[in-house]
Amino acid sequence: MTDRKEWIIAMDGPAGVGKSTVGHLVAKKLGYHFINTGEMYRALTWKALREGIDVKDAEALTALAERVRWEFKPTEEGTTLKTFIDGEGVTLQIRDEQVSKHSSTVAGVPGVRRRLRGLQRELGEAGGIVMEGRDITTNVFPDADFKIYLDAAPEERARRRYRQLRASGKEGAIEDILKAMTARDRQDSERKINPLRQAADAFVIDSTDLSLREVADKILDHIRARRGRRK
Ligand code: DC
Repeated sequence: MTDRKEWIIAMDGPAGVGKSTVGHLVAKKLGYHFINTGEMYRALTWKALREGIDVKDAEALTALAERVRWEFKPTEEGTTLKTFIDGEGVTLQIRDEQVSKHSSTVAGVPGVRRRLRGLQRELGEAGGIVMEGRDITTNVFPDADFKIYLDAAPEERARRRYRQLRASGKEGAIEDILKAMTARDRQDSERKINPLRQAADAFVIDSTDLSLREVADKILDHIRARRGRRK
């Protein structure tokens, strides 16, 4: 742990585990910013699809990641930092199915990862941030003050995604969600570059039987316990 006044709280885990909800709750409580780095990969995928770039063309994707203007601005409620690409906030479009499917391929491009990791480090290095993704604890901030790994059974994660979709007025069969999620998990954890891994020194929470608020409380207790020990 560093002497940084404002900490870096890094969080990783598979798709649909609740990282964003939990990360936001933790950040809000601490008065920190929260950023979901999956949004950056999704934003780039969305832009590539719109420009007709082949998601398998590593060179073109790297050039795109370098060329676009990236901005991260707090939302009205102040906690979450949203991603803007060339001035466009793409929050709604990037949840689109095509984007979900291809974002894992785009995230496997070394040049893309290099560019996004640079941006993520710039955003987080001063601390006061909760950052979530797949390689935040292992690659972006391996020396983060707190490293959290969230896990949950695939069936429960698919159920959560299903409920999320329903809540936003979309339909989808739970079996299809589970299938797509499992495929994406495999791609994210089996890729050569910066795969999803549990850091050896991460605080691991299985959220299968916990509400996301309970998970956030566990993380806050963990932070408070260590803060207490530092005094
Ligand atoms: O968290 P998400 O499902 O919105 O992420 C979209 C894709 O980006 C997903 O396939 C994993 C990938 N990703 C990554 O490789 N590294 C990160 N730090 C965040 C996301």
